[in-house]
Amino acid sequence: MIDVTRPTVFISGAAAGIGRATALKFAASGYLVGAYDIDETGLASLGKEAASLSGRVVTGILDVTNSDQWETRLKEFVAEGDGRRLDILINNAGILAAGAFEDMPLAVHRRQIDINVNGVIYGTLAAFPYLKDTPGAQVVNLCSASAIYGQPELVTYGATKFAVRGITEALDLEWSKYDISVKAMWPLFVQTAMTQGVSTGTTSSLGIKLTVKDVSDAIFAATRPVKRRLHKVHFPVGLPSKALSLGSRFSPAWLTREVNRRLSHT
Ligand SMILES: NC(=O)c1ccc[n+]([C@@H]2O[C@H](COP(=O)([O-])OP(=O)(O)OC[C@H]3O[C@@H](n4cnc5c(N)ncnc54)[C@H](O)[C@@H]3O)[C@@H](O)[C@H]2O)c1
Repeated sequence: MIDVTRPTVFISGAAAGIGRATALKFAASGYLVGAYDIDETGLASLGKEAASLSGRVVTGILDVTNSDQWETRLKEFVAEGDGRRLDILINNAGILAAGAFEDMPLAVHRRQIDINVNGVIYGTLAAFPYLKDTPGAQVVNLCSASAIYGQPELVTYGATKFAVRGITEALDLEWSKYDISVKAMWPLFVQTAMTQGVSTGTTSSLGIKLTVKDVSDAIFAATRPVKRRLHKVHFPVGLPSKALSLGSRFSPAWLTREVNRRLSHT
């Protein structure tokens, strides 16, 4: 059934965790939601869970490291609406590997870069024609508090989030001429499959406290078309993330390093 009136949101990595909670949040608010992932079983259960909500959830297989698949899935998804409209792209799919840098196989370093960085680039590029044709369109990238300061035991993961930060800041400026805003969400550790069994110096200092509801609510709030006095690009989620990001902006470099050294028990 063609539905041309609903606002639309396309979410990668939506079968589980933050992406899934975000898909349900937007569907409950009347959006036409595109929920894409490599996990077919998770998508099927999401489809069932979303069936009673006021919005509609379209699901499909997408490996974010495959740029052709991005183009196909986006085309299929917008065809569920008016063929052009894409209000929000949420680049959420991501993986994390924790451990000593030198003990991690090269393939694991590469995979994190492929999914967490290249996935964002491919998706954002493929979505551009639709975002450009939709007034006030937005891109939301899942960054992380690991991009505030380099994180021991999460070296490459943190580096991918620094890259996401750079992509977000630069594109938000570059695409303002198209009326497209680009935002980054900055949660600290969240209780999802990603952090299950992860034990680093920082997770033991700060705990894994945020829930997927905290993050999906924050994403929904960040995408409301409110007029802010000051343009906002970065959205820390939770008090510790807010305190750490604020602290790193105003404290001298040696102090930021010292705080991170202590938090990471290095
Ligand atoms: N959990 C945390 O502590 C935390 C903190 C800050 C930021 N984040 C970020 O939030 C995002 C979501 O994390 P989460 O905690 O919900 O993780 P999760 O592991 O619960 O879910 C990630 C989803 O991404 C999917 N995925 C993995 N590889 C994919 C690929 N190649 N193509 C498409 N989908 C793929 C998985 O199947 C899964 O459904 C990630 O970008 C992550 O880096 C998470």
